[in-house]
Amino acid sequence: EELGEAVWERPGSAPLGGRELLELAVASGVAAWATWAALLMPGFRRVPLRLQVPYQPSGPQQVANALALLRGRPGKTVDLGSGDGRLVVEAYKQGFRPAVGYELNPWLLCLSNYRAWKAGYHGKVSFLKKDLWKVNLSDCYNVIVFLAPSVKPPLASKLLAELPDEARVVAGRFPFPSWTPSSTLGQGLEQVWAYDMKEVRRAAQSSSAEGSPV
Ligand SMILES: C[S@@+](CC[C@H](N)C(=O)[O-])C[C@H]1O[C@@H](n2cnc3c(N)ncnc32)[C@H](O)[C@@H]1O
Repeated sequence: EELGEAVWERPGSAPLGGRELLELAVASGVAAWATWAALLMPGFRRVPLRLQVPYQPSGPQQVANALALLRGRPGKTVDLGSGDGRLVVEAYKQGFRPAVGYELNPWLLCLSNYRAWKAGYHGKVSFLKKDLWKVNLSDCYNVIVFLAPSVKPPLASKLLAELPDEARVVAGRFPFPSWTPSSTLGQGLEQVWAYDMKEVRRAAQSSSAEGSPV
């Protein structure tokens, strides 16, 4: 057999050639992408690719740390990209009112509503099928973000433009690269950072007065 001809033989049938193998690889790639798009990222067609964040649920310690940095604070509490609703349900359980999750994936919204119902909070917490980039955040005082580092810079601009001065943002897994946290809790993957908008704005103003980029 010549070198480079048949590379994979099936018993009782003609061997697969390079072209067939290539077609098989392309078809598998398309199938894998379609499965990913249908199951994990449905509802994201209108969100630019660079702003899409896949689902990765927080662990119990991450949830506990995030809510500990918000403890005792009044006002609307939101999870931007609420996944299966675990943070919102736990926030409600700990007394945060109202507690709202924004999520685009319909499967995760179903899971969230099931989680709320199981906890006895059906109709008490809200899970809204809304694009977090399009939601107006001007009435949010406690904002939880467990999102990828790549979206932190555009998210920082949105939060700076919309949140009230009294708002606190808690980021999980990755800090905001250009903001200074007012407090932090946990280590490694469980670390969370809290940012008070008044302080963030003050720092942004003083560094722009000094001429350095924020
Ligand atoms: C890393 S997961 C975090 C889930 C949840 N907050 C947690 O910590 O368990 C990010 C979530 O954001 C959702 N998401 C991503 N982009 C979104 C958007 N533009 N609008 C609403 N939800 C979005 C994803 O579907 C995913 O469930």
